[in-house]
Amino acid sequence: MSPSFTRFSLSVQPEGAFTVLAAARQLAAAGKDVIELEIGDSPYASPEGAVEAGIQAIRDGRTSYGPSVGLSEFRAAVADYVNEEHGFSVEAEHVIAGPGAKTFEQLFCEAFLEADDGVLVFSPHFPTYAANIARRGARMVLSSLRAADAFRPSLDDVRRFLEEDARPKAIFLNSPHNPTGGVATEADLAGLADLVRGRDVAVFSDEPYDCMVWAGRHHSLLAQPGMLEQTVAAYTFSKSFSMSGWRLGYAVSSLENIAVLDLLTNTALSCVPPFTQIAGAAALWHDRAYRDARIQDFQRKVELLVTGLNGVDGITCLMPGGTFYVFPSVAAICNRVGITSHGLAMYLLEGADDQVGVACLGGECFGEAGAGFLRLSCAQPDERLTAAVSFIAEASTRTPRIESYLDAYPEFRSAELYSLD
Ligand SMILES: Cc1ncc(COP(=O)(O)O)c(C=O)c1O
Repeated sequence: MSPSFTRFSLSVQPEGAFTVLAAARQLAAAGKDVIELEIGDSPYASPEGAVEAGIQAIRDGRTSYGPSVGLSEFRAAVADYVNEEHGFSVEAEHVIAGPGAKTFEQLFCEAFLEADDGVLVFSPHFPTYAANIARRGARMVLSSLRAADAFRPSLDDVRRFLEEDARPKAIFLNSPHNPTGGVATEADLAGLADLVRGRDVAVFSDEPYDCMVWAGRHHSLLAQPGMLEQTVAAYTFSKSFSMSGWRLGYAVSSLENIAVLDLLTNTALSCVPPFTQIAGAAALWHDRAYRDARIQDFQRKVELLVTGLNGVDGITCLMPGGTFYVFPSVAAICNRVGITSHGLAMYLLEGADDQVGVACLGGECFGEAGAGFLRLSCAQPDERLTAAVSFIAEASTRTPRIESYLDAYPEFRSAELYSLD
């Protein structure tokens, strides 16, 4: 007999991008030309300095266990880097290594949340927040991000949460924001810091897109007075350094918080591979010009996609403040043909054409607040992005084909109209 699974494990929803990625790869293997705009991964090679240092470190035998908190040379390189890039004043001891940024969601929740604690999450939101909060039996309290506010966090909602929730304990902040591309301003962060300062409230500041801000520069909550003690800020090499498969990231916080994250890392992971950290340190020292060139490519692609999508009947798309995602409203198309935005995404992949498909995500993959939108990543050659826009424009007018897709998949019929705001 198979033992029964926990209620938690049965409730976990995977990151939708990986599910659509699997479906897209299956169709591509069967011969379909799929333009893949679903996964938030860089199409570029990892930088040369990192690759060489990583290979050399393996040759040098840096292949044993290392300290759970990370190698001292990696932590020192990160501290110098974030001080220079983000204006922090931290030491190597304020840094902990991790296998990407995602792990820190779980460690943060283990460090700060008890059952039934309230956690404010701005939504749409990165999908794995829900599982990590649920893992601790804590409660997710949602604050909707709105296109009319350029998807910036609402301080009124923060105030209400702190004053009215039975056990307000944590806030998940993500800026630049996946999936909307919204960026919190320095004034937003100062206001947030003023609200939480001195309370028994911890902030998880998820900052994987710190180098992808399209106007001005990135601001972190950590730079606000007193916030080092109350914030765990998570960063990654996955995006701007094109190193997602190396699984390397880090978090920055106070010495007390890092000590607890170190302990939790020890019980869950032992350590991040030393040669990976050596590669990451080399990227920080030697590969910033490469990073910047790739980021300029992303900015051009984002602009190309936004301009193209705004030319499609029924689509309106804000220029994101940051990230390599665009988040167009497709509410008018969905309302016209009676399909959900997730259904529209699946139709574009599977149903619109026998030879060609576009893989992207319905906004619902990021919570109900994302309904009526699509998320497209820009990680494809320019001509493929242009082809995707033409395909979406054409496919969304093929009403009989949409109807027969909905006959085959009635679960994608929308029950009500989306707001056109
Ligand atoms: C908001 C957000 N947090 C965390 C992650 C996880 O990144 P990593 O590859 O560093 O684990 C991503 C990746 O898409 C993300 O968009």
